[in-house]
Amino acid sequence: MVGTQTFAMLKPDAVSSGKAGAILAHIEKSGFAIRAMRMVRLTRAEAEAFYAVHAARPFYGELVEFMSSGPVVALALEAPNAVLAWRDAIGATDPAEAAEGTIRKLFAESKGKNAVHGSDSDENAAREIAFFFPERELALLASA
Ligand code: CMP
Repeated sequence: MVGTQTFAMLKPDAVSSGKAGAILAHIEKSGFAIRAMRMVRLTRAEAEAFYAVHAARPFYGELVEFMSSGPVVALALEAPNAVLAWRDAIGATDPAEAAEGTIRKLFAESKGKNAVHGSDSDENAAREIAFFFPERELALLASA
């Protein structure tokens, strides 16, 4: 079954450059409902755990350093076919390759500082939502 929820995150570059509000407006205009949201600064250990799947990649150290460098905004988004719809909305990892009108084309700086995160599968969406949101806050999603 294709899920209706995905996990999104505004990364430290987007938050520190004052683009959080514009990106949130873009998200809502693009047809996603924001069902849970919190701003948090990840510790190094939390960033390592969140990106554990990338631990063997050459850019892992840089990624962990960057993702724990300042606050992020974590979001649970809802839309039909949410994972795919959100990945389409954010565009390619490298903003230089992202399609016109996508969030990374509009707001990202570089492949590393690429403004937003999106889950790549329903399984990871569920894992990532659970990583950031306590059960109490997820009651909102459940009651939809
Ligand atoms: P995302 O797809 O959200 O999750 C993995 C992240 O690793 C990716 O976004 C990029 O921000 C980052 N990443 C991927 N490739 C590179 C790279 N070559 N150098 C630095 N960061 C990268």
